[in-house]
Amino acid sequence: MALAAQLPQSCIYGGLRLMSAFGGAARQPSDKLGHVIDCGSATRTEGLRNSFSTVAMPSAETPQCQNSTSSSASSQHIAPHPGLKPKLSADSFEAHGHPNYSNVYLEGVRPTHLQPEKLYQHVGLHAIQAARWIFDRATGYGPNMTEAKWLQRMIFLETVAGVPGMVAGMLRHLKSLRTMQRDHGWIHTLLEEAENERMHLLAFFELRKPGPLFRAAVIGAQGVFFNAYFLAYLLSPRTCHAFIGFLEEEAVKTYTHALEEIDAGRLWVDKPAPPIAMQYWGLPPGATMRDLILAVRADEACHAHVNHTLSKLKPDEANPFAMGASQLP
Ligand SMILES: [Fe+2]
Ligand SMILES: [Fe+2]
Repeated sequence: MALAAQLPQSCIYGGLRLMSAFGGAARQPSDKLGHVIDCGSATRTEGLRNSFSTVAMPSAETPQCQNSTSSSASSQHIAPHPGLKPKLSADSFEAHGHPNYSNVYLEGVRPTHLQPEKLYQHVGLHAIQAARWIFDRATGYGPNMTEAKWLQRMIFLETVAGVPGMVAGMLRHLKSLRTMQRDHGWIHTLLEEAENERMHLLAFFELRKPGPLFRAAVIGAQGVFFNAYFLAYLLSPRTCHAFIGFLEEEAVKTYTHALEEIDAGRLWVDKPAPPIAMQYWGLPPGATMRDLILAVRADEACHAHVNHTLSKLKPDEANPFAMGASQLP
């Protein structure tokens, strides 16, 4: 796949993050899967395999599993919970179950563009180009923006960016419930994207607290965009994923612009990264805003590739980014 060839590293790192977004150990899916089922019951089925494969469950070494199998009737029994994370080895690709990119990869991310071929791709591209044109003019985007203006833009856009993954994940979840059919591994990848965007928002929010007018605009935008995206996804999921793919391409461009400003000494000179970002991305001591923007840009590049890929799949095709995949397409 041409896009994959352009983004091999982002796919590897981002994909590992996506595959293990809920604590999964991407290197040993089968081991983890077996332990998961052993914790709670004596048997497992093929149906369970898929639904459990993307949630975090304790490994066999965790106290929860040992307790549940050795003294199931005792008061020490602790029921395993999907939110529990397995222990990670020191050389894990993840830090605390979150993205952890290499410096070489982070510095190498560049804006990319998927040339639209199909009608739904043209629709997605033109929609995002129109949205960006309007938003850029409404907010005065351009050269020599102040730190406050950058943060205003980033915070607002990240409140919007966290919506599509949640809407798509929710709709696929509901469809699976009402049709009583499997989801083919899409839901957790979509929800993970939403959470990742929310972490972008919370990181930038540490640097600037919006006022009541800004918050009102966020509420209004969410009300409109959530409903519009909800309806659009019902009509054409393919077009929606293409739209998000092109949106994320724009995000990579914008964060690359921010990095150029930082490197030119016009933005966040040696400003420390906020603690929440240090924790989420596992940034080293002394990390600055430049490190944070590098990590966010890498996330956006990953989202672009994931959504462009999903847009080309039929809704009942297996998600190639789901747990158990050893290499991303
Ligand atoms: Fe984002
Ligand atoms: Fe994004």
